[in-house]
Amino acid sequence: MNDTVRNLIVKLNEEHSLTIEEYETILMQRDAEAAEFLADLAVKCRKKYYGNKVFVRGLIEISNICKNNCLYCGIRRGNHACDRYRLSEEDILECCDDGWNLGFRTFVLQGGEDAYFSDEVVCSLIRKIKEKYPECAITLSLGERSRESYQRLYNAGAERYLLRHETADEQHYRKLHPAEMSWSNRMKCLRELKEIGYQVGCGFMVESPWQTTRELAKEMKFIEEFQPDMCGIGPFIPHNATEFAKEPAGSVELTCYLLSIIRLIHPTVLLPSTTALGTIDPLGREKGIKSGANVVMPNLSPVRVRNKYELYDNKICTGDESAQCRSCLSRRMESIGYEIVTDRGDRVRE
Ligand code: SAM
Ligand code: FES
Repeated sequence: MNDTVRNLIVKLNEEHSLTIEEYETILMQRDAEAAEFLADLAVKCRKKYYGNKVFVRGLIEISNICKNNCLYCGIRRGNHACDRYRLSEEDILECCDDGWNLGFRTFVLQGGEDAYFSDEVVCSLIRKIKEKYPECAITLSLGERSRESYQRLYNAGAERYLLRHETADEQHYRKLHPAEMSWSNRMKCLRELKEIGYQVGCGFMVESPWQTTRELAKEMKFIEEFQPDMCGIGPFIPHNATEFAKEPAGSVELTCYLLSIIRLIHPTVLLPSTTALGTIDPLGREKGIKSGANVVMPNLSPVRVRNKYELYDNKICTGDESAQCRSCLSRRMESIGYEIVTDRGDRVRE
């Protein structure tokens, strides 16, 4: 690591801000020593607010039916080989029962943009979950909807929303999506979710096709400016039935480096160590936590649908039961000196 990089990392740790050019420098000149230095500061920063606690979110993949056709995604509308499913209200409530008994206090309902999940259907679901488990937090990740729709879901009791912006650069967005999809609408959704009062999660894929270091530097600036409550980043992984099937997967090392930078930009952010990291590298999720992440999202979906929510190839955790993921992750976190806690896992306010 040269002095320029060291000084910039120190500055980031103190001021939580760099220029786009400075972010570009620490990304371009990344080496093992810089990664270690950054991770060390990121872990110290995270420990200050969250100790050695790791929060869990129970992920329930409610539908793989999607009206969108994002070029990188395995459940895109145009993939006719995808075996489609949709969970019923009873299925979802059962997943919550399992999750509650396993110590989950946050449920994430994620799915493709499936018209069946109208405001009426989702509001009724939220009310039923909240009635049964008033102490839990509900996170939605159901894509782009109208402001009125987001407001109704919020009024029904959902308090968090995950919507990855995918890329902070409009030109790059156009290369990853069909013409009918709009970057500015996605960004508008994020702003509206924030205005309504949701705890908002944005995020992007690392090393998606055509992403350059300059783009990654812009991602860092966007996070600095938007100040999300959560930020989901994971390596891009090709899916065999997409036009990016032959592209290489994103790197675990670069993802971890970015996790450390994000922790220093926004010390209290909720930062998942994603399943995509664990898919590329068996120790990927542990590496993410050791780089400054503080959330893991095990799969609570019914076993019969797990291998159908296939966003990318070789996705892990398609195993036999929810309890398996919970205990697997507890063991993994304990092995590196962290502890999974039974808690809603709200963001600490500075
Ligand atoms: N439909 C909702 C939405 O648009 O936010 C939620 C589901 S969407 C499939 C969840 C996320 O999966 C996307 O935001 C994207 O970043 C990620 N994803 C999709 N395809 C991927 C791939 N090939 N590699 C890595 N991540 C991928
Ligand atoms: Fe799912 Fe390990 S976390 S099997």
